[in-house]
Amino acid sequence: MSSIVLFGPPGAGKGTQAERITQQTGLPQISTGDMLRAAVKAGTETGILAKTYMDAGQLVPDEVIIDLIKERITHPDAKNGVMFDGFPRTIPQAEALADITAVTHVIAIEVPDERIVERICGRYSCAGCGNVFHDIFNPLGPDGCGCDRFVEKRRADDNEDTVLSRLGAYHDQTSPLADWYESAGIFHRINGDRAIDDITADILSALQ
Ligand code: AP5
Repeated sequence: MSSIVLFGPPGAGKGTQAERITQQTGLPQISTGDMLRAAVKAGTETGILAKTYMDAGQLVPDEVIIDLIKERITHPDAKNGVMFDGFPRTIPQAEALADITAVTHVIAIEVPDERIVERICGRYSCAGCGNVFHDIFNPLGPDGCGCDRFVEKRRADDNEDTVLSRLGAYHDQTSPLADWYESAGIFHRINGDRAIDDITADILSALQ
C-alpha cells in the first residue's frame, strides 16, 4: 500500500481538491477533520475529548489521531492506497504514518495567510452530500450540490478567532513537516491562490 498526503494550512483547499483527486484516482479520502467531526456528532469519548481542542483551534493530541488512522486504514477501501487530507500535522504523526504506509507524494497547497480568513469564514457545505462551497469564490450553482436535498451547513470552528488559532497551530506544529518531507524528495509545492481547476490540474500532473 502506498499513499499520498494533502498538506496545507486551514482553508488552503485540501478538502475541495481531495474530492476532485478522488474522482480522478479512485483513492479514498481520509480526512482526520471529518473523522473527528463525525465522532463529535456521535458523542463518542473521542469526540467529547476532541471537541475541546477543535473549538479552541488547537490540534487534537497525537495519540488520539494515530489511533483513528490505524483503525481507518484497516478498512477494505484502503488496501490499494489512500489520500490523507489534514494528516499528518506533527512530526510524531508523520513518524507513525511512516510505520503504516509508504508515502509517495506530499502535495502542499500553498495559500498566503491573508487569504485564509476570508476563505474559511465564507465556507459552507451541503449537510446531505458534504460538497463544499464558498459565499463568493465557489457558490452553489444552478445545477445544485450533487444531491437533491441541499441543506446549508457551516462549521462551528469557522469563525475568525478560531481560524487565527488554527493558523498559529499550522505554523508552529505542522509547517516543520515540510522540511521533513522535502528531504525525502516527495514534497510538491502547488500555488493554491488560483482558480480551483488550475490547482487540480497541477496536482494531477505532480501525481504522474
Ligand atoms: P480540518 O477539518 O482538517 O480543518 P483544516 O485543516 O483547518 O482545513 P479546512 O477543512 O478548514 O480547509 P481545507 O484546506 O480543506 O479547505 P476547503 O477545501 O474546505 O481540521 C479541523 C480541526 O480538527 C483542527 O483544527 C484540529 O483541531 C483537528 N484536527 C484535524 N486533523 C488533525 C490532525 N491530523 N492532528 C490534530 N488535530 C487535527 O476550502 C476552504 C474554502 O475555500 C471553501 O469554502 C472552498 O469552497 C474555498 N476554496 C477552495 N479552493 C479555493 C480556491 N482555489 N480559490 C477560492 N476559494 C477556494
